[in-house]
Amino acid sequence: MARIAVIGLGYVGLTTMAAFTELGHSVTGIDLDKKKVELLHKGQIPFHEPGLQRLYKTLFESSKLDILESYEGVLQKFEFVFICVSTPSSPTGQADLVFVEAAITSVKPLLATNAIVVLKSTVPIGTSVRFKNELTNQAIRVAANPEFLSEGTAIEDFLNPSRIVVGADDKQTALEVMALYDNVPGSRIICGLASAESIKYASNAFLALKLSFVNEMASLANATGASMADISLGMSLDARIGDKFLRPGPGWGGSCFPKDTSELSLTAQRYGSRMLTVEAAIESNRATMVRMFEAFSSQLGIDLKGCKIAIWGLAFKANTDDVRESPAIEIATMLAKQGARVTAYDPLVKRLSLSFLHLEENPLDACFGAEALLILTEAEEFSLIDPLAVKERMAPNPAIFDGRAIINLDAWSPHFKNLKAVGQ
Ligand code: UGA
Repeated sequence: MARIAVIGLGYVGLTTMAAFTELGHSVTGIDLDKKKVELLHKGQIPFHEPGLQRLYKTLFESSKLDILESYEGVLQKFEFVFICVSTPSSPTGQADLVFVEAAITSVKPLLATNAIVVLKSTVPIGTSVRFKNELTNQAIRVAANPEFLSEGTAIEDFLNPSRIVVGADDKQTALEVMALYDNVPGSRIICGLASAESIKYASNAFLALKLSFVNEMASLANATGASMADISLGMSLDARIGDKFLRPGPGWGGSCFPKDTSELSLTAQRYGSRMLTVEAAIESNRATMVRMFEAFSSQLGIDLKGCKIAIWGLAFKANTDDVRESPAIEIATMLAKQGARVTAYDPLVKRLSLSFLHLEENPLDACFGAEALLILTEAEEFSLIDPLAVKERMAPNPAIFDGRAIINLDAWSPHFKNLKAVGQ
């Protein structure tokens, strides 16, 4: 059992704290946000993450969680200090390290000699080496242990990972960090600090690239009469391509792909090089959102001004309430700018302060009187809704556009003449 501090109790930090506690370590979570700590002390977490919610509740009820709102007087006792604070995109597109720097500056004087500071936050390539050089005088060690957690499946991804990556300058440090995962299955990679950081960026950027390609292919399929579902199936049977991340959509979003692709392409430029493929993926992603908006507007065939449009799905993907960098919000904004009245429903997004968007409590209410329906996340709930009930509520001859290819076209097409889906 190791003594671990987790600094920053957001999505990554809370998952790390709960999962390490579940694995039998003694973990203390620290966050300077008093309101968040208050909520956590009541056994609640501030966002939707089903597996984490369940595990957090169980651990909380058995009094296994130790959560503090200050570093003072406690840090000396920890062997490992995991930095899990956020690294959002700055206005220039680079990852903003203000929270990581503040956390390291604050904990630095309080750490035990020989403690290991582990960077789990996604930090620009080169950051861990820089911190290591700053901390060497104090005999404090640094490791990079990037997270590969997807929103919606974070605990499952932590406890059953595709791989565990630990970067450090010396093997002993890396092995000590890796030993924390002794009871976790999955491949292990021990490498240098810059390699560990790069693996995280390369993986996210490559997946984003794959999706940008899929979305362009889906657009071509719409034009040629081919089916993206068949194309994806055909591609997926080639083991070199694999069967994941082949679903077309309105573009990739969330708090990770947009900021990590942007940071990686800027890192390359800082080193006097270019990542043209990543730059193209970013540009293609913007074009995908615009293309979907334009395809939908022309399908509708009438002026958007004053039109009532229903949207199903606002989050950046299904099973999350996260709307950061969500293509659905981008497209809703484009519609509103053209004068459309936008009413939306999302299974998990229940509060949103966007003046141009009216939120409804259920999907059918959102359709009431609407001239068109646009589906923008792949929530399973949408595929189960009775198309006739939708038709009864909508204006005559409505347009339906399924931006995630999730509804059953055979069941819907008898009721709607003007029905289209991405890639079909
Ligand atoms: C992503 C990575 O998948 C994780 O491995 C990584 O740890 C995480 O970022 C991070 O850096 O922390 P996440 O942002 O939660 O996870 O979301 P994904 O499930 O990867 O989806 C990203 C975007 O791609 C979403 O907008 C989603 O709708 C879209 N997507 C995904 C598709 O359009 N089609 C697909 O087939 C798959």
